[in-house]
Amino acid sequence: MDWWNDAVFYQIYPRSFQDSDGDGVGDLAGIESRLDYLAGLGVDALWISPFFKSPMKDFGYDVSDYVSVDPLFGDMEDFKRLLAAAHRRGLKVVVDLVLNHTSDEHPWFREAREARDSPKHDWYIWKPFPERGPRRPPNNWISLFELRSAWYENPATPEWYLRTFTRNQPEVNWRNPELRRAMYGVLEAWLDLGVDGFRLDVATGYFKDELFRSNPFKARLVPDLLQEHLYDRNRPEVHGVFRDFRRIADSYGGRVLIAEPHGQDRSLAASCHGEAGDELHMAFNFEFLTRPWGAASFRDSARRWYGALPPGAWPNFTLSNHDQPRHVHRYRKGADTEARARVAAALLLTLRGTPFLYYGEEIGMGCRRLPRKALRDPLGIRTWPFSGFGRDPERTPMQWDASEGAGFTTGTPWLPVNPDARVRNVAAQEGDPGSLLSFYKRLLTLRRNIPALRSGDLEFLGEDPDVLAFRRSPSRTAVGDGAERAGGTDPAPARADPEVLVILNFAGGRRAFPLPEGGRVLAGTRRPEGSILGAGDAGLEAYEVLVLERTGT
Ligand code: GLC
Repeated sequence: MDWWNDAVFYQIYPRSFQDSDGDGVGDLAGIESRLDYLAGLGVDALWISPFFKSPMKDFGYDVSDYVSVDPLFGDMEDFKRLLAAAHRRGLKVVVDLVLNHTSDEHPWFREAREARDSPKHDWYIWKPFPERGPRRPPNNWISLFELRSAWYENPATPEWYLRTFTRNQPEVNWRNPELRRAMYGVLEAWLDLGVDGFRLDVATGYFKDELFRSNPFKARLVPDLLQEHLYDRNRPEVHGVFRDFRRIADSYGGRVLIAEPHGQDRSLAASCHGEAGDELHMAFNFEFLTRPWGAASFRDSARRWYGALPPGAWPNFTLSNHDQPRHVHRYRKGADTEARARVAAALLLTLRGTPFLYYGEEIGMGCRRLPRKALRDPLGIRTWPFSGFGRDPERTPMQWDASEGAGFTTGTPWLPVNPDARVRNVAAQEGDPGSLLSFYKRLLTLRRNIPALRSGDLEFLGEDPDVLAFRRSPSRTAVGDGAERAGGTDPAPARADPEVLVILNFAGGRRAFPLPEGGRVLAGTRRPEGSILGAGDAGLEAYEVLVLERTGT
């Protein structure tokens, strides 16, 4: 069992977590000042979105120096201090490497775009303008953020370069051995500094088709923009790089590699582990980001995901991140919104697999439509007035307290604070045992203390359309077996670790459901902790969460 198998990750979007110098943008010193909160919450690892030098055209996902800290966030000393302070509290730190593209202001690209014979030219992907005739882009690949051709003109050479996000994010050529070596050096530099691993941005996108074939049509607008992304990403050559990454990480020991795969393609994500299990440790399971609300919906999705993983691979789940509307917002339903947030939290924190939390979800931060003038995200600006594409609403400042800057900043925040920060904030919820924050803490404590929840097997109980129930029992499977049921031949653990039943009512009304007599409530939204279920207990209240310990009676 590796540390990341039973760790709970917490994603920090550094611009928005805590500002320490009053410029309205979060920074590394700010994160450091909140480490006690994070340790107290009960998470194990932090994934920090990019804080490297960047012109911020895509808010740090356009990097101009991979081994550096952007002055907006502090400096390398701040990072070292943050890392040491996190480690002192037992928190791991994973950084976000954006290696599919650089910023167009990266010195590599500046050099590359000057002339075709520049030594760095082949570090990027180019196509020459036709010698005569109309200047049509070489194929149909598209820029997902600018909604036009992915080929952008560079008159100096004269060629197009490839970018599938903004024009300021030229894609690098992973087929070039020198570029590869430079990128491996980036991993090594951060590993030398002591980071515990990487989240690898657009990891399945590194390689493009050698023949530059056009993508076939696909009748799906979001997120594929009417193309099956067969040739502009997701190419098999990437596995060689993943194996190299793994060798590098293994040579340090105890480091984790987590891929961002393209979209929600389960088999693509599963392939990131490698046929021999010698590639990445995890690839995000993004399915919950778009599942409709409902017990059957989540059960089917989790089941499909467990089924898709190769032997030896370990599952993971995430409900919210910096690219999608927060789940509290997606699943909102008037006065039921908070009750739904508890059901979602209980699901995420009790399933078999590594959970990824997104900052603020523990207090139920939502999203709201921002006025045009407040928008910062290039995708949001491009797609305005359509909502649902732009990512600013899920990136608003962390709500620490009821003050004007929500305790996030003393200055003017780079994105407006949600108006509900006056009532929905950490300070208000911390002292309240009935708050969502207290509920998260309770679940995180249970997860940490009960082996069956951390690493045990999972068996779904029944197929009720509204009630999602499953049993977590001490693991008999080989660690890392993503399979749903118990299996394998390992002997049962010597100590009788408790078995846990999780029963979640996704419906807004009472539902009949057989409850185990004698079950002891470990956490719940209706019944008090420690209470024992009697013979007459046969139903669940609206949105009731029950996490039970089987006492064996
Ligand atoms: C990933 C990131 C996203 C970013 C994009 C381009 O999808 O999660 O935030 O804009 O890559 O780097």
